[in-house]
Amino acid sequence: MKSLKERILELKKEKNAVILAHYYQEADIQDIADYVGDSLGLSQEAMKVDADIILFAGVHFMAETAKILNPTKKVILPDLNAGCSLAESCPADSFKKFIDEHPGHVVITYVNCSAEVKALTDIVCTSSNAVKIVESIPKETPIIFAPDKNLGKYIIHKTGRDMLLWDGSCVVHEAFSLDKLIELYKENPDAKIIAHPESETHILKTAAYIGSTAGMIEFVKTDPSKKFIVATEAGILHKMQQEVPDKILIPAPAEEDNTCACSECPYMKMNTLQKVYDCLLNESPEITVPADIMKKALIPIERMLELSK
Ligand code: 13P
Ligand code: SF4
Repeated sequence: MKSLKERILELKKEKNAVILAHYYQEADIQDIADYVGDSLGLSQEAMKVDADIILFAGVHFMAETAKILNPTKKVILPDLNAGCSLAESCPADSFKKFIDEHPGHVVITYVNCSAEVKALTDIVCTSSNAVKIVESIPKETPIIFAPDKNLGKYIIHKTGRDMLLWDGSCVVHEAFSLDKLIELYKENPDAKIIAHPESETHILKTAAYIGSTAGMIEFVKTDPSKKFIVATEAGILHKMQQEVPDKILIPAPAEEDNTCACSECPYMKMNTLQKVYDCLLNESPEITVPADIMKKALIPIERMLELSK
């Protein structure tokens, strides 16, 4: 009998579909994907897709971004409930009110937000280009940055810009324990700590490198160190270890009483191999975005992609 992976690969061919997967997906899903990447890479890849169907193995805002970039293609997501705490922290109506209360600001939003919020945005960014995008705005222009306050604080520190921050955060990256991280580092003084900028400032202060998921993978490939403590979602370790089979990768420890219990994203992990199969078979759940939102949200995404070339 054929394995689930084999059946998915057959269906994918039959339906002329591609599978785009984020680094936080479970290892089995990453292994059957046509492309695995960070948010920016996935958006760039989504633009090049030639297939009829995009199965997006990631969370809702990522699939929505792929749909906005490919309005004529069918974009499907294995589990429609695969959301994101950052996107959920920023409802479009409250965000619109916030913008109206602070006129004259350029609105920059992290890609981890809904299409409705993107439609209210001047320019989108991801963790790999956020500093560059903020620096592209003239110095005298005030900026609203949403929804991630931790990434926002990191950009303020890097650029010296005084941005107005939305009060959102990632449940996974806020769960890292500084005390446990210090303990782990004492046991592994030869390790380098690397962190995603969604982490809190006290975690970022310990890091030898701060960057997006793709940036972190590149860093462990090029840095001569043999051991790394990795402060981001644990799914990244699969691809990272494949890239550096001889290096030691240790996941950064989370607080015991956090909502995730470990550094796994509960939303990313809603997708399973079985759901990928069912989703391809039924071509559902499908991502839809109202035409007016799609049109408005495309502009700030295209601005970002243009600046990221
Ligand atoms: P990247 O853009 O680094 O892949 O991050 C996406 C994300 O959701 C991090 O939590
Ligand atoms: Fe959202 Fe955090 Fe999960 Fe990324 S890791 S999808 S930011 S909840």
